[in-house]
Amino acid sequence: MGQGRERHHYCICMFLAILMFTQAIGIKWRHFDVPSSVNRGSDTVLTCQYDLQGDLLYSVKWYKAGREFYRYIPDERPIKQKFPLAGVSVNLPESDDQTVSLLNVGLQTAGQYCCEVLTEAPKYSTLVKSGRLVVVDLPKDGPTVSGGQNEYRPGDKIDVNCSAPKSVPAPTLTWYINDDQAPHEYLVEYPSEEDDSGRIGATLGLHFTVRRWHFFEGQLTLRCTATVHRLYEEHALHTGAAVHSIPEELEYGTHLGDGAVSQESSLPSLLLISSSLFFVVVHRVVP
Ligand SMILES: *[C@@H]1O[C@H](CO)[C@@H](O)[C@H](O)[C@H]1NC(C)=O
Repeated sequence: MGQGRERHHYCICMFLAILMFTQAIGIKWRHFDVPSSVNRGSDTVLTCQYDLQGDLLYSVKWYKAGREFYRYIPDERPIKQKFPLAGVSVNLPESDDQTVSLLNVGLQTAGQYCCEVLTEAPKYSTLVKSGRLVVVDLPKDGPTVSGGQNEYRPGDKIDVNCSAPKSVPAPTLTWYINDDQAPHEYLVEYPSEEDDSGRIGATLGLHFTVRRWHFFEGQLTLRCTATVHRLYEEHALHTGAAVHSIPEELEYGTHLGDGAVSQESSLPSLLLISSSLFFVVVHRVVP
């Protein structure tokens, strides 16, 4: 008997769990998308796809930074409405209960977008999700290197610049010396001014003294890479040949010679002083 009673309780619990489970699900997400990089001047689509699970839709509303710019309410006329908001140009005929179509994306279009879905009585479920829209205006060209020489010898100073065309956001520049990223202390950052349309360029200088070990098979290779997020990557090269007119051994030889000469010149005077001191001492003792 006791066992049957327990089973009975068990069944009720299961029933309640299932009931609560379905109630909690009610409405659920299928797909949400706010593009994380849109080219300036292009059109784009924000997606807010949900599964009502049998519930009735009350409203879908889209907000940018807390301000509503689009709503879809099946019980209202018109069903679709857009509200003026700077930088957000809704293409109403192309928008519906699960997507919003935006025209001619500009820098002002960038920002945080939020979709809110409400269902009808009796459940009044709510779904809210947001994402950041990023607008880009990629460089039209690759970076360029200016300055520098065709040949280098150890001890020479290298002073070159890498410049990338203006873009949104500003390009990130990186210098490599023979495939190794240049140390921070070799870099000179130059400020770049924003143009009328909000684009910013970049210039990064590379300044260091050439050492013997900078040459690889008689050549020094400098590479500058310009990137914008993961959407754009271009590079520019600067190469310089090692100067061969002065072989390594000879260069070392002259340095050693210099040292030897200065030592030799001081030796005779030392001998002269010590020998004259010896003479003075001997002269005193003898008488
Ligand atoms: C590098 O660019 C800066 C800023 O434009 C300029 O002042 C400097 O002379 C340039 N150096 C070389 C080597 O071109």
